Amino acid sequence: SKEELDGIYAFAVNLGKEAGKMLLEAAKLRMGDERVSEERKEHVQKENAVDLVTETDEDVEAFIKGKIVEKYPSHKFVGEESYSKGSSRDYLIDDSPTWCVDPLDGTVNYIHLFPMFCVSIAFIHKSKPLIGVIYAPFLNQFFSSCVGRGAWLNETQRLPLIRNPVPPMPEKAPSGCIFSCEWGKDRKDHPDGNMHRKIESFMNMAAEIGGRQGRGGMVHGVRSLGSATLDLAYIAMGAFDIWWEGGCWEWDVAAGVAIVQEAGGLVTTANPPEDHLTAAIEEVRLGSRLYLAIRPAGASQTETGRQTQ
Ligand code: IPD
Repeated sequence: SKEELDGIYAFAVNLGKEAGKMLLEAAKLRMGDERVSEERKEHVQKENAVDLVTETDEDVEAFIKGKIVEKYPSHKFVGEESYSKGSSRDYLIDDSPTWCVDPLDGTVNYIHLFPMFCVSIAFIHKSKPLIGVIYAPFLNQFFSSCVGRGAWLNETQRLPLIRNPVPPMPEKAPSGCIFSCEWGKDRKDHPDGNMHRKIESFMNMAAEIGGRQGRGGMVHGVRSLGSATLDLAYIAMGAFDIWWEGGCWEWDVAAGVAIVQEAGGLVTTANPPEDHLTAAIEEVRLGSRLYLAIRPAGASQTETGRQTQ
């Protein structure tokens, strides 16, 4: 019911704030600490030298899971660290009420003290992400959304912040887009994770859109933040126009999908360049490894107020 959802939203917002504070405290302890550079080499590796986990990932996930289990014992919990031990998908996002959590998205950034890291908490029902909370404490950016209630930055600024009446896809790519792309952590086929091939295919997509508009070279910039979650948050803001990654897990994207959709943007399952023309009409399927997100168009930047009123 609506009341139940409101309660879950308020709970998720508080949980996100507390978990984000834990991340910030842990990151501060690392600053200026000589042991950190040693630790960079010593952190526990999951699958390979770039798939990393720190104690912070595990502590924050345990904290979030504990709170959820206590408050909503009948809900399912899917968290990155609980499922990272093997790469098999021995869980399912199905119809049950489910929490999908990445305690620390951007773990490599966190280890290097690059500020693009965050906690990501989503509440999913009937396979649809209904609530998203993303907190990047180093940046003091707190993103939240609940279906039907808008998407928000720091609980007061409605997303998107940037009013851009024309969508960048599929037909009318305006000049001046920022594209963003992540390379994932899969190094099985190639030591650089096929980064070269991915960059090429991504840039082809950009060039093709530009070319069709007779405006080659229109891309303002290409970014890779090292956090799929924050890429989605910036799509919802309108700061990024298009984001793509092949290789995501549900916890990387679930909260971001909720926030982008609530801000009026699109998230779909697509692999550029082949699918991008149809991308805008397909619905996103959680559980896919491929995601493409497109920023909102035409939404008002003038609406302000608090999310819960
Ligand atoms: C990773 C980051 C990265 C993306 C990977 C994710 P993690 O999450 O979002 O940018 O390329 O696919 O798994 O491991 O830092 O939580």
